[in-house]
Amino acid sequence: MNALTGKKILLGVTGGIAAYKAAELVRQLRGAGAEVRVIMTRAATEFVTPLTFQSLSGHPVHLDLLDAAEESAMGHIHLARWAEVVLIAPASADVMARLRAGLADDLLTTVCLAATAPLVLAPAMNQAMWLNLATQDNVAVLKARGVCLLGPAEGVQACGETGPGRLLEPAAIVAALASRSGAGSLAGLRILISAGPTREAIDPVRYLSNRSSGKMGYALAQSAVMQGATVVLVSGPTALVPPSGVEVAQVQSAADMYEAVLARAGHADIYIGAAAVADYAPETAPHKIKKDASSLTLNLVKTPDILAAVAALTASRPFTVGFAAETQSLETSAQGKLLGKSLDMVAANQVGAGVGFEVDDNALYVCWPGGETRLPTAPKSKLATQLLTLIADRYHAQHPVKNS
Ligand code: PMT
Repeated sequence: MNALTGKKILLGVTGGIAAYKAAELVRQLRGAGAEVRVIMTRAATEFVTPLTFQSLSGHPVHLDLLDAAEESAMGHIHLARWAEVVLIAPASADVMARLRAGLADDLLTTVCLAATAPLVLAPAMNQAMWLNLATQDNVAVLKARGVCLLGPAEGVQACGETGPGRLLEPAAIVAALASRSGAGSLAGLRILISAGPTREAIDPVRYLSNRSSGKMGYALAQSAVMQGATVVLVSGPTALVPPSGVEVAQVQSAADMYEAVLARAGHADIYIGAAAVADYAPETAPHKIKKDASSLTLNLVKTPDILAAVAALTASRPFTVGFAAETQSLETSAQGKLLGKSLDMVAANQVGAGVGFEVDDNALYVCWPGGETRLPTAPKSKLATQLLTLIADRYHAQHPVKNS
């Protein structure tokens, strides 16, 4: 179950160039299981047509406070009662000023005054408008009243300026709502995930590493947040932006990752080892190795096995899921790891040229004590959700009290 399944979200769209992103937001909210109704301000309709939101939400868009047909049935009160969350994205400086003042001069502000549901704002505006003391004062007052602010993000703006004021990405808004809602199949669970490669220093300028991009582990973190979990991601070096709502610990080497994971594993309900941890590390030379010799031998030493150490915890052992990256005998190797390390589940993938590492798609063979299944080739985001569903099922079967 997604964290937003059945959640009634009333989306207010105000006027600004970021209004076009609200269309994708509706799509993603519905993808996460929410029911969405849309109110647009007049200014918003100058940027995107109501028909776009009608098509994406599957319902007529509400525009006017003084719409005779709707108001004969007290349309604004009906909408206010219907909403379980009122989300305004993008929220302009103007709407925040009107909300602060308690105005009811259009349908959106009137519904906000009448609604008892939590109000969430995702602001978007020019950076100078955002930083203006009047806007900051409005933000402070709204926050003090319990209004939730998501963003804004920083970066290059449509006007060409750089600074705070960009609308948060739709996925980040959905993830934030999901983690607030606490209704997904992983709601209330703390999940620790390792992702990416490790780098094992040869000398101060060189290292040994592997092809892991972190995509699989980051997809798991994103999906776990969407299903209501509190997620900590221990990540080796990657080029990826961490998913919103996830606590991230950045590490370099297998030894660093071991320390970071073991320091947190006792507080986690579930550990998923998706990182491609180096199995061996060189003894690090204190200075850059010179190229005088015609050949060079590196003495490699075995790294600590993080997964085995987590699975061997006696006090507060989390439900422990290992990955297996194999070029041959996928299923036999996965079963071997499951038994050999006393794991609760293993997700095994074929790796090699253009498979498993770096690419966007993957396929998994998943096994656990007494069961197995195959998840066919799909985007890593979809596989992550499927794998987490299996993990949630097995976890809740082991912990029937937390399940109820
Ligand atoms: O990051 P991507 O580009 O998206 O690629 C995804 C992936 C292929 C890296 C991922 O799906 C994957 O298979 N991750 C595990 C890679 C790996 O190291 O597999 P392994 O069979 O060598 O290790 C088995 C398990 O032991 C893994 O859970 C690994 O995290 C863990 N391990 C390994 C060595 C070590 N010292 N400590 C460990 O915890």
